[in-house]
Amino acid sequence: MPKDSLSITDNRTGKSYEIPIQNGCIKTADLRQIRVDDRDFGLMGYDPAFLNTANCKSSITYIDGDKGILEYRGYPIEQLAEKSSYLEVCYLLMNGELPTRKQLDDFIYTVTHHTYVHENVKAFMDGFRYDAHPMAMLASTVAALSAFYPEAKDIKDADVRRIQMIRMVAKMPTLAAFSYRHSMGLPYVYPNNDLSFVGNFLAMIKKIGTDTYKVNPVLEHALDVLFILHADHEQNCSTTAVRLVGSSQVDPFSAVAAGITALYGPLHGGANEAVLKMLRSIGSMSKVPEFIKQVKEGDGETRLMGFGHRVYKSYDPRAKVIKRVADEVFEVTGKNPLLDIALELERIALQDDYFVKRKLYPNVDFYSGLIYEAMGFQSEFFPVLFAIPRTVGWVSQWEEMVLDPEQKIARPRQVYTGAKRRDYVPFEAR
Ligand code: CMC
Repeated sequence: MPKDSLSITDNRTGKSYEIPIQNGCIKTADLRQIRVDDRDFGLMGYDPAFLNTANCKSSITYIDGDKGILEYRGYPIEQLAEKSSYLEVCYLLMNGELPTRKQLDDFIYTVTHHTYVHENVKAFMDGFRYDAHPMAMLASTVAALSAFYPEAKDIKDADVRRIQMIRMVAKMPTLAAFSYRHSMGLPYVYPNNDLSFVGNFLAMIKKIGTDTYKVNPVLEHALDVLFILHADHEQNCSTTAVRLVGSSQVDPFSAVAAGITALYGPLHGGANEAVLKMLRSIGSMSKVPEFIKQVKEGDGETRLMGFGHRVYKSYDPRAKVIKRVADEVFEVTGKNPLLDIALELERIALQDDYFVKRKLYPNVDFYSGLIYEAMGFQSEFFPVLFAIPRTVGWVSQWEEMVLDPEQKIARPRQVYTGAKRRDYVPFEAR
């Protein structure tokens, strides 16, 4: 029977060590016993960007990148997208199980009754310049919420924790819509408790000059599905930011604000905007082969945006669902003229040896921007549309971290490469 351990021989000393293997991992802290002498700190792992380091145990989201599998709490994303709703998925992510009808009704009621924000929050948002980026407004306003709910600091209290989690899920569409209205120079629209989570968000965005504004049910359903697809994605950059900042035991509003700022970056939540820019610059279907050639023969500077993923080495399962949603949306809004270019890019790339060899497939961002644009959102708002549904992932992962007895304040080691100790030199001697 093979043992679940790793035998290591340190060739510097000739000594051998046996390191236990658990869940396919060794604990890098176990390497510390490997030392040249008593003064040696001990062996560390060097892993910039956590390429091969698990930072936590988690029971929330499972991804198999080679097989293109994504599951929330064990449920395949395709089934949730087809049969569930965003708020049901929120309940699932936060609680680990699908709700009964009564549990879901209670949850929807609670979320619906926490959508309002303090009037001072509105005044706070008014302080931004007319051209403030909506994502910058969202990040700062979520951080500011920690000043509105000082009790949120009591992260050890289960009830206090839960109410902040609900507040964030519920208020995020309100804050997002307020940031949108501010950037358009339009008055804020208050939440309407008679509408669904997504319907209310769309109404707060779109309503102008009429009380009879009706949310289109096809668009409402499409956005609900997009929210499900974006709800969590295990230890990505923004979730890791939330966990790391939260590990200092700060309140969850401050931790989630860190997640929003991480998502703001073009390598994370900003890629769908880059896809639209790319499609526009290609301009027509006939130019697609030339663009693909440029990507392949370039110096790596020109990438096929919306293709490739650190984890998925096959078709991103979310991209498959999004393609279907796009068809539904375009039935209502009319086809986004850039769609044909996107489809042609995908068709050619999926047959091309360069992309096949590197396992580059469309990711979630390849089609989502086209849908958002067709729904009338400007590209600056795309990362905000990502942040709204990802909030439930952030707060669920945050609470899991708070409750995990193995977690401590995050504090990586470094490999120091600077100057050796030297004495201060006075100005005249420099
Ligand atoms: N177009 C052309 N070549 C690519 C692309 C692409 N989109 N992505 C990767 N490659 C090539 C890359 O040049 C490299 O080739 P070689 O081995 O010859 O040097 C190889 O594929 C491996 O790439 P990598 O950069 O080492 O892969 P990574 O895991 O570090 O990067 C990625 C993942 C998503 C940053 C990258 O695929 C990329 O830049 N894609 C375009 C941007 C994008 O669509 N981002 C959205 C990600 S999904 C949403 C989210 O999670 O936030």
